[in-house]
Amino acid sequence: MHDSIIVTGGAGFIGSNFVCQWIDGGGSQVINLDKLTYAGNPGNLAELDGNDRHLFVRGDICDRAVVKELFSNYRPRAVVHFAAESHVDRSILGPEEFIQTNVFGTFTLLEEALSYCRTLDASEQDRFRFLHVSTDEVYGSLGSGNPAFSEQTPYSPNSPYSASKAGSDHLVRAYHHTYGLKTLTTNCSNNYGPFQFPEKLIPLIISNALAGKPLPIYGDGQNVRDWLFVVDHCEAIRVVLEKGRPGETYNIGGNNEKTNLQVVETVCSLLDELRPNPAAGSYRSLITFVKDRPGHDRRYAIDAGKIAQELAWHPRETFETGMRKAVEWYLANQAWTQQILSGDYKHWIEKQYGSTPRQRAKL
Ligand code: NAD
Ligand code: TYD
Repeated sequence: MHDSIIVTGGAGFIGSNFVCQWIDGGGSQVINLDKLTYAGNPGNLAELDGNDRHLFVRGDICDRAVVKELFSNYRPRAVVHFAAESHVDRSILGPEEFIQTNVFGTFTLLEEALSYCRTLDASEQDRFRFLHVSTDEVYGSLGSGNPAFSEQTPYSPNSPYSASKAGSDHLVRAYHHTYGLKTLTTNCSNNYGPFQFPEKLIPLIISNALAGKPLPIYGDGQNVRDWLFVVDHCEAIRVVLEKGRPGETYNIGGNNEKTNLQVVETVCSLLDELRPNPAAGSYRSLITFVKDRPGHDRRYAIDAGKIAQELAWHPRETFETGMRKAVEWYLANQAWTQQILSGDYKHWIEKQYGSTPRQRAKL
């Protein structure tokens, strides 16, 4: 077994932040397996160009042959599994991809991880970790007076996205209990920060505001989410990977419950300060209430007491400091958002990798 790790979905929002942070922090070689769906963007990894501790492989986690080959060629000490279809609204319009990647893809990785582990000696098997990155959405929706989700909260997913993530969490649990695979599961709240695809609330609001377009808020804007700066999430994952107890799950959150309206107003205030547009007035004037999402969960809240007590992890950013960093990043990187909105990054991917997902290349 080598010291390398396989990361899946490392060209997406959280995965790319994780890979860059891992390599910046002196971590071992990363084999980054990503299908480059609409959400995957190799541009997120540009700072690793030419770095031989990062090997990018374009491939599908559902493709058993590719996954098998990576395990046998690189003999990693861990898998950190981010790859997923991740947008609730897309799961409502087309759930099939979510079942395929989130459930079947996770199953494929588990099968191949297990078969690889069986080739290891006892101490290597003991050291191996399969870390599955999941979401608080598997716990369902809370009323305003309910306690926050703990690791004991029963699963109650309400969207095709959260149901598919719940399915994958259960498979991970089963592979630990049945086969003894050394798994870890993290359930995190809503992330925000650099490189988030502009279909998600915060980057969407920033790019619409800068373009003078309406800022769509679903329903009455009183749905509550807990928000965590992505860099804090990535740090939590590293801590769980190194110190978490196999077979356990860890909830991760920012202790920042906000209504969607509060989030959008915060973005508007920061933009009013950092990119004022006196002729148009406050960006708040663009706020527009639109038709609600079907089955829209009312409130998510995370009790992150277990990871704090057992592993001494705490978020570094408050909502105020994290949101300021996020808005500053999007202002400084408008070309990144523009490339996505114009579709240019997809043309580049086709040129670089062709249209077949099995093609591979070092970035
Ligand atoms: P994302 O949609 O930005 O990125 C997903 C990545 O996975 C993309 O690079 C995509 O190309 C890749 N991918 C998709 N299907 C694949 C397949 N079949 N094979 C290989 N690669 C594939 O997602 P994200 O927001 O970075 O989320 C990453 C993980 O974290 C997901 O598992 C998600 O459920 C979880 N999560 C996200 C949040 C959040 O707020 N974004 C919160 C908690 C947990
Ligand atoms: P989103 O970023 O899609 O994450 P999730 O649904 O996984 O929590 O949405 C965050 C919240 O913002 C959610 O309650 C839906 C709401 N929302 C809007 O009000 N308007 C929008 O345009 C979007 C994309 C989301």
